[in-house]
Amino acid sequence: MQFKYFYSFFKTFKIPGLFSVFSDFKGMVRYHFLYAAVESGLLDALKIPCSRDDLINKLGVKNLDILDALLKVGISIKELNCKNDLYGIKGKRSQAMVGAHGDTLSAVIQANVTYYNNSYRYAAARMKGADLGDDLKRAGDIIARFSKLSDPLIKTFLQNIVPQGPGLRVLDIGCGSGLLLKSMMHINPDLSGLGIDIDDAAAGQAMQNIEKWGLTERFEIIKGDIRDLPDDIPRFDLITLVNLIYYFPVDQRPELFRTLRSRLAPGGTLAIVMTMQGKMADFAAANLNMANASMQGVTPLPDSATLQEQLKESGFSTVRISDLMPGSSFVGMQAI
Ligand SMILES: C[S@@+](CC[C@H](N)C(=O)[O-])C[C@H]1O[C@@H](n2cnc3c(N)ncnc32)[C@H](O)[C@@H]1O
Repeated sequence: MQFKYFYSFFKTFKIPGLFSVFSDFKGMVRYHFLYAAVESGLLDALKIPCSRDDLINKLGVKNLDILDALLKVGISIKELNCKNDLYGIKGKRSQAMVGAHGDTLSAVIQANVTYYNNSYRYAAARMKGADLGDDLKRAGDIIARFSKLSDPLIKTFLQNIVPQGPGLRVLDIGCGSGLLLKSMMHINPDLSGLGIDIDDAAAGQAMQNIEKWGLTERFEIIKGDIRDLPDDIPRFDLITLVNLIYYFPVDQRPELFRTLRSRLAPGGTLAIVMTMQGKMADFAAANLNMANASMQGVTPLPDSATLQEQLKESGFSTVRISDLMPGSSFVGMQAI
């Protein structure tokens, strides 16, 4: 290459901010690649190295230009390699995504490329009054899979809250994948109860999982709205609301808490786990708040003090709060 081109290249990269913008650009291309590779089944197919023809057959490809372009992007960002005409997985993200926790990682990518992305893409118009996004209608499955990420933190919080002893019952509202019910059963192996989720895909996922884990004798899953829970259901010793409060408008929360309190057996506990409005430096909370502000069916993240007041106003005498993650506004609340 002639020196004059080097010179103009360096001159271009002296534009303030361009280097940083380009670094982020690569991360974004990687996110988009991983999204397309998951959705198309490419990553799954490449668990065993494949030729281009194998990929065409396995993925049912009709547009070869797009497959070739995607493979090229994968190689350029070192997520894929190609040796002896066989494509394989190279990058550590792609490798992890076909590993034991791959489904959760895939859900993080899928969430960011779809509804989180939309909340920024349409922010300008929505801020000026355009309709909020209806993304939640399609995001139930992704949200349920994504939410599993916080399970170990929630499990630690619930360690001292799940009641011990035989015959105790739990109600998990917005049960998503159903994983929380399983985790609570590890804390008290005698536990039984109910999971409810309003979303078809999430409730379906929970039903399948409960069956897969052999827990159908212990836990029933209902597809429906907690506000319509039949009256004849026996009371619960523990009710959990995990990552859920923002699905209820602020002014409806006291009524919800009062109803849930009436569903508790004497001495029962309501446990709430939630990312709150919080420290400015918590970018994940700020990102979630941005998505929530921009979608139909959810509200911005709750304010911890307001939530405590509402719980007390609804008849709970004591509310204890635990910080669940360093540097974050992810908290557990125990209301009794
Ligand atoms: C963010 S997800 C959390 C899932 C799960 N609790 C977790 O943390 O893994 C919230 C879930 O609550 C469900 N949900 C929202 N409003 C509900 C309602 N009124 N009754 C029952 N489920 C509801 C949604 O469909 C969604 O699956």
